[in-house]
Amino acid sequence: MTDPQLVLTERVQQALGSAFGPEHATEDPLIRPSQFADYQANVALSLAKRLRRAPREVAQAIADHLDTADVSVEVSGPGFLNLTLRDGWVAEQAAQRLLDERIGVPQPAPQTVIVDYSAPNAAKEMHVGHLRTTIVGDTLARTHEHLGNQVIRQNHLGDWGTQFGMLIEHLLDIGEEEALGMLAAGDGNAFYQAARHKFDNDPEFQQRSRRRVPLLQGGDPETLRLWREFIEYSNRYFRKVYRTLGVTLTDDDIAGESMYNPMLPDVCDELERTGVAEISEGALCVFPPGFKGRDDQPLPLIVRKSDGGYGYATTDLAAIRYRVRDLKADRILYVVGATQSLHFQMVFAAARTAGWLHDDVKAEHVQIGSVLGSDGKMFKTRSGESIKLTDLLDEAVVRAEAVIADRGYDPEARRQIARQVGMGAVKYADLSVSHDSEYVFDFDRMLALTGNTGPYLQYATARIRSIFRNGGIDPQSVTGPITLGHPAERALALQLLGFGSVVAAVAQLSEPHRLCNYLFDVAQTFTSFYESCPVLKAEEESVRQSRLALSALTLRVLLRGLDLLGIEVPERM
Ligand code: ARG
Repeated sequence: MTDPQLVLTERVQQALGSAFGPEHATEDPLIRPSQFADYQANVALSLAKRLRRAPREVAQAIADHLDTADVSVEVSGPGFLNLTLRDGWVAEQAAQRLLDERIGVPQPAPQTVIVDYSAPNAAKEMHVGHLRTTIVGDTLARTHEHLGNQVIRQNHLGDWGTQFGMLIEHLLDIGEEEALGMLAAGDGNAFYQAARHKFDNDPEFQQRSRRRVPLLQGGDPETLRLWREFIEYSNRYFRKVYRTLGVTLTDDDIAGESMYNPMLPDVCDELERTGVAEISEGALCVFPPGFKGRDDQPLPLIVRKSDGGYGYATTDLAAIRYRVRDLKADRILYVVGATQSLHFQMVFAAARTAGWLHDDVKAEHVQIGSVLGSDGKMFKTRSGESIKLTDLLDEAVVRAEAVIADRGYDPEARRQIARQVGMGAVKYADLSVSHDSEYVFDFDRMLALTGNTGPYLQYATARIRSIFRNGGIDPQSVTGPITLGHPAERALALQLLGFGSVVAAVAQLSEPHRLCNYLFDVAQTFTSFYESCPVLKAEEESVRQSRLALSALTLRVLLRGLDLLGIEVPERM
């Protein structure tokens, strides 16, 4: 373990143990980056309060017991411990990182992590909201995989439910070929809206639609065939979006709502038999403790409607039971819109009462904030229709072409770069803000070559590559030793050592924006380094080698980090 913050945590804990007794050896030393040193430990302040002693005195006691082989310590202010690592230590660790295939990323005991993400609805167009859950979920899946966890992706497609009665009847009305063509082209929304309009205005159509539902649920072969065609065609569209984006979801990850349909009667039986659910006004309901509606009445989670039908909640209960019992999940991440927060709280609570979710399993709703248009409302076209994703992605590529410099690439290469930059911009915009915040979709901002954007990081990475290209050097072949003569060299080395714990934090907290911020800092620190420290033109050979080593390590960290974000880096830019 060579991450500076972790090393210092361990050291301060040892000092806490020997100064105040072993019960303090597991205390969080509260180590933070500092303006006045590399890091500062703030533990003395809180500990002093509990021990009823003067903070500076407590800080001094910690300092006196600290192993100072690689770190110097100074008590400052009201009782902060300023910690500065020895230059030689930083340099050695950085050189070792170059030899470490994982660049410092830990490999903890593997867990089975289920990532439920993307989950568009077959009946409708995939909208920007699904784009964001897809992109954030994909980064979480990649990151857990990289940490050595067994990742099971679950694309919980909306591919079942009573609305399919209506959709199948509409499909028959306009003709199979015409209907399927619309779905394959991503016009699911128009299709859905037309069906809905007829359903609301044409009693005969409404009747037919209702009669179709039991046929679907009962497994009538012709109805099932039409339903399957329907799903297959909209999946074809989703697949195209995933491919364009470079998202790792495949057909094997599809575990849509329809998959759980056969389990629903048994789910309800078990809930009823064990007394977890009860009949209320004809419907089978769970009343998870602590959920109150209007008038302070207990809030029901309806698992079987009074007409015998099942709903979204029933399916999610079946899914959670399956994921824990059959897939043996240790952790389940639901990367889904923040608007579904209450739904998941209630489903988790009900599953806990049922004993399906127990203490050894963590279920988490990774809440995804809405993507807004420039008017501050849900992102739509001017005429109010939701935007076709493939159109949006195409536009990103066209706009990216205008942003990338003209260096005489052949048209094919140029298109490739534009695709990478366009997709990088869209993905990074979703990843770089905290996942639960709303943000305004703005092509100009996300495609900017300066600031915390995907294209800026791609550009910064491509530029380091060009240093090696210009020097005729393979960055893979560069090794240490690293020497830290200039403060900018030291700052860069120290920062690069933090990569592993950032990646671990992304997985632990489900917060990809931490990796974005870190990579942005790395790129900026590299820029300062490059401005004050010539690399290829360094005067001394040993300095040149050391700076090449720092550049190679920076390149590897940026490439690995962007790869975890699912962002490709053009060879040149
Ligand atoms: N299809 C749903 C929607 O578009 C999202 C499903 C999320 N996953 C889940 N297990 N409920 O809102």
